[in-house]
Parts: sequence; C-alpha cells; structure tokens
Amino acid sequence: MSTYTLRIAPSLLSADFARLGEEVRAVIAAGADLIHFDVMDNHYVPNLTVGPMVCQAIRPHCQTAEGRPVPIDVHLMVQPVDALIPMFAEAGASLITFHPEASLHVDRTLQLIRSLGMKAGLALNPATPMHLIDHVMDRLDLVLLMSVNPGFGGQAFIESSLPKIELLRKRIDTTGRDIWLEVDGGVNTRNIRRIVAAGANTVVAGSAVFTGGDYVRSIEALRAEAAGGRT
Ligand code: DX5
Ligand code: ZN
Repeated sequence: MSTYTLRIAPSLLSADFARLGEEVRAVIAAGADLIHFDVMDNHYVPNLTVGPMVCQAIRPHCQTAEGRPVPIDVHLMVQPVDALIPMFAEAGASLITFHPEASLHVDRTLQLIRSLGMKAGLALNPATPMHLIDHVMDRLDLVLLMSVNPGFGGQAFIESSLPKIELLRKRIDTTGRDIWLEVDGGVNTRNIRRIVAAGANTVVAGSAVFTGGDYVRSIEALRAEAAGGRT
C-alpha cells in the first residue's frame, strides 16, 4: 500500500442506546473516522437493532466540532435488502454494505446504492467464499470482512480471518481500484496490528472502543497498536 490511512469505525452496537446522540458526538470527538451502524432484522441474523429512523436521528450528531461531516457506515444484516436502501439514503447514510447471500440480485443492489449517491459495499461472513465479489469489483467501494459471525458485539476474533484479509488485499490491489478493506468483529489492541499488516485499512471496533468509557484513550490505543502493522 503506497498511501495508507487507517480508518476507525466505532460500532454503535456497543454504545449506550439511551444516549445515542451523545455517544456519537463523543466518539467523533475522540477521533472516529466513520460511525458504524449495525442493522439487524432477526431474520438474516438472530438479533434485532435499529433502522432508518434511528439513522436519521443520529445524522445531525455525525459531524466534528468544526462542522466536518463524519460518514455513517451502514452495515445491513437484513434480508431482503433492496427496500431499505432508499430509506437509508433518505436518512443520511453515506455507505451501505450488505451481505451477498441476502440479495437475490447483488449487482442490481450495488447499482441501486450508488444511484442514490452512496458508496457501496459487500460483506463476507467467515465462511463466505471470496469469489462472490469477483464479478462486481467495479461496483464496489468497500469490502467488509466479518471476523466474527454477524449478529452480536463482543465476540472473539476468528483467527482464520487473517489469511482471508491477505487474500482480499491481493484481489483488491489487482483491480487497481481504491476499494476499502474493512474488518468487522472482535478487533482490539491485541490483534489490530496483525489485521492492518494483513491489509485492512478500515476497522470496526465496538466493544474495544466503548468498553471502559474513555473513548479518546481507546481509539488512540488502537491507532498506536495499528501503527506498528503498517506496510
Ligand atoms: C457484528 C457487528 C459488528 C459488531 C462489532 O455483527 O457487525 O459491527 O458490533 O462489535 P465488536 O467490535 O465488539 O466485535
Ligand atoms: Zn458491523
């Protein structure tokens, strides 16, 4: 990687839902690059979270003290996918990622996301083969690699994700496109260096950011550890 920027995306799944706006402002003040917004439907995954109305409610909070907008990184763990996309566009989402198994027409769904002015991503579960992205690379702005099974925060990082990150990094580099490689699940100060060294340039961190309550310290610790893994 020639130009390297690590983006840290705190997952609101581990935030205090009773004080969501405040939590969003606090992680942005602490250096969050994106706000990761996990949408679960109790169908594609066995959990139920939030939807477009909550996305819209946090949107005004997604900016720095200087007024620079901070993108909302929507991770859809829902099936079907398409009907929610215009709703999230309206609600202020900047990026939408979905799971290819959850859409009958992946290419069409990717086109829909971009047609509404958002960045488009595909998420791969631990057991999902990488070839599912092969024929849509030109429609992708990011690939999200799940390093836990989707549905819950606070799970342990699955170690076999590391060689998969390396393989995905090679695939992305082969295209010559600026496709983000985001890793989601179980990221912490003990593994972020290896995750970044393997080729991730964007990491989601839920419990690693929100547990403990000192968000500045948590995000700085992640960055400091990651810095040792840069190539
Ligand atoms: C899991 C979600 C993740 C989760 C990450 O299905 O997609 O974004 O919130 O939480 P941690 O970092 O605690 O594993
Ligand atoms: Zn997520």
